[in-house]
Amino acid sequence: MKQLTLCGAAAQSELRIDRGLLGNAAAQIAQVFSPSRVHIVTDSNVAPLYLDKLAAQFDLPVSSTILPAGEEYKRLSSVERIYHDLLAAGMTRKDLVIALGGGVTGDITGFAAATFLRGVSLCQIPTTLLAQVDSSVGGKTGVDLPEGKNLVGAFYQPGLVLIDPNVLDTLPKETFTDGMAEVVKYGYIANPEILRMVQAPGYRAHIEDIIYECVKIKRDVVAQDEHDTGLRMILNFGHTVGHAAEKLGNYTELTHGQAVAIGMVAAMRLSNALGAPRDLVPELVTLLKALGLPTDLPYDREAIFGALLSDKKKFGATVNFILVRNPGQADIVPLAAEQLHTLIVNL
Ligand code: GLY
Repeated sequence: MKQLTLCGAAAQSELRIDRGLLGNAAAQIAQVFSPSRVHIVTDSNVAPLYLDKLAAQFDLPVSSTILPAGEEYKRLSSVERIYHDLLAAGMTRKDLVIALGGGVTGDITGFAAATFLRGVSLCQIPTTLLAQVDSSVGGKTGVDLPEGKNLVGAFYQPGLVLIDPNVLDTLPKETFTDGMAEVVKYGYIANPEILRMVQAPGYRAHIEDIIYECVKIKRDVVAQDEHDTGLRMILNFGHTVGHAAEKLGNYTELTHGQAVAIGMVAAMRLSNALGAPRDLVPELVTLLKALGLPTDLPYDREAIFGALLSDKKKFGATVNFILVRNPGQADIVPLAAEQLHTLIVNL
């Protein structure tokens, strides 16, 4: 088993990665928490696969909420439903909430745990690659509003994150591929060794090592900037244009990973325009294509710029853009809106 500790300002997270860990989750949980009861939140895709397997391990009262699967349910009404289920189950502040699922389940459940009774303990058990390498780690929780994604939320660290790479075997191929966009991101922003690992034939056999390298980067970045005021922004490499593209596609034409892949290529072109010593676009495009991810921006550049400016990461008159000029080294570059406009329309 691989283990890491993330020391946040208010709380510490234990991160554990091992094949088959889901079958041993209650024992892992007992090493970190002492609840009187647990409540598992999952969704309608994951529940038939893993809910009983997890619930049966506890010698405690176990209750659950099964949310409908899908980003459209990442909303306040889902959080309210969890609150009602927690109250009906008699959950107190000493008890434990478990998020069992992908990024949407983790974000909603994390926000419910952060706010129910002003905070109950939280364990994340991510079941998608994207959630395992990114969203389950670092304490970002929240829901969408009709006006935009992730507009309501809290930073709230899970006390324990249990990552079982075996659960990835039940994922649809596209969902796995989606997570690979975030893996590639980590390679470019912090550790090019990850790029070599995913280029090796049969890399999926070593996915636990790849996940570990990604989570280590996330742990280190979050430990230095938990509340996303500086360094943590490097985790948004590919996400500025990516979020704009997702928005233009009404969140249905592109998956998050596809949008991030396209956004990374766009960001790399911007890095070139701003004087990167070496053109990294061809190797990035080749890698993304080999992984089954798109690389071309399918929308009008003016529309991308408009959507980008409305993104919540806009910072006064400038937009913080993440550039990679050398593999493994990301820079946060504030760009004036006018300069960014010129760069985007020439992409
Ligand atoms: N997914 C980006 C972050 O956690 O900051």
